[in-house]
Amino acid sequence: MLVLGIETSCDETAAAIVRDSREIVSSVIASQVPIHKRFGGVVPELASREHLDKIVPIVEEAFERAAIKKDDIDGIAVTIGPGLIGSLLVGVSYAKAMAFALNKPIVGVNHIEGHIYSVCFENPPVEYPALALIVSGGHTNLFFVPSAGKYKIVGRTRDDAAGEAFDKVAKLLGLGYPGGPIIERLAREGDPKAVEFAIPRMGDKRPDFSFSGLKTAVQKYVRESGLQPVSNGQEPSQAIKDLAASFQSTVIRSLVTTMERVAVDYFPKTLIVAGGVACNGALREASRKAADRLGVPVYFPSPHLSTDNAAMIAAAGTVKLQAGERAGWDLNADVSLRLQNIDVEDEELRKHVRYRL
Ligand code: KG4
Ligand code: ZN
Repeated sequence: MLVLGIETSCDETAAAIVRDSREIVSSVIASQVPIHKRFGGVVPELASREHLDKIVPIVEEAFERAAIKKDDIDGIAVTIGPGLIGSLLVGVSYAKAMAFALNKPIVGVNHIEGHIYSVCFENPPVEYPALALIVSGGHTNLFFVPSAGKYKIVGRTRDDAAGEAFDKVAKLLGLGYPGGPIIERLAREGDPKAVEFAIPRMGDKRPDFSFSGLKTAVQKYVRESGLQPVSNGQEPSQAIKDLAASFQSTVIRSLVTTMERVAVDYFPKTLIVAGGVACNGALREASRKAADRLGVPVYFPSPHLSTDNAAMIAAAGTVKLQAGERAGWDLNADVSLRLQNIDVEDEELRKHVRYRL
């Protein structure tokens, strides 16, 4: 089955053609990073205007690179949320118009479910139940996935997403945007033990995350130590590299220890770590060690599939199309679309959980 995926939820206009959920025939991504860079974050109005400019040429290019005709596809999958409303609407309207003109079926895909499916291209098939850690600029969630397409949120961030914390800390250190890759590069030359930051403990012991306190702690450290943020083009000092390494290792410890703690209770057969922050080599290394301790494999998307792309949306959509799902012409964007579709009463979930939640 050949499926066209369209993704415009945030600041990437992307289109891809995927065969049978496993083979990327073509994947085109237009990043808006240069446009939002000078604001230190995504500006929603600029993002939607840029999607409008890019959507037609990007979809055309996906077909050109795949060397197929539009009529050769079997269906269309489009991200319907969560994301920025103006951005999402560009993709959803375009996808619906195309489905109508071509007389092809269309399905809506949750962006986070797309990130989970991003591991299905370059890894063996996922064995269920799985535990998926989704870490991006907008989301930090831990999902228990008892079988394909079933999701229960077991952990979430109570404030900032992990990628957002990387971006905010990079901004306050004068490092540029997006912060994740820059902090990772500096952290390689820094001492992760130089500054000790605490990982917040949840009063109710839920496996949730919190990163805004860590950002404030970095801010306080900068103020009290008199550390100078990096100004235009300067080489970052050793103290900045040490701070970057200490911050990064605290985020990773929080993510991986929580994932491991939940895995001990849910007995997953596979761990999945995906989303933009999954590009981070130190997070991959720590996740691999945790997976070894648990005796299960951990799958990551390759770095170009970790950040937003349309191949993952096509892969998730293919499964829905194959199951006979079809959206109507009332398909719409939903900025706060949730992925959870099972609850604690679900038998399938209870089977896998050691204790009653
Ligand atoms: O998945 P994504 O492209 O967009 C969202 O859905 O949010 O993730 C982007 C986020 C940014 O916050 C960026 O700083 C972070 O992923 N990121 C990283 C790395 N590469 C990208 N964070 C840590 N280390 C990296 N190497
Ligand atoms: Zn994303």
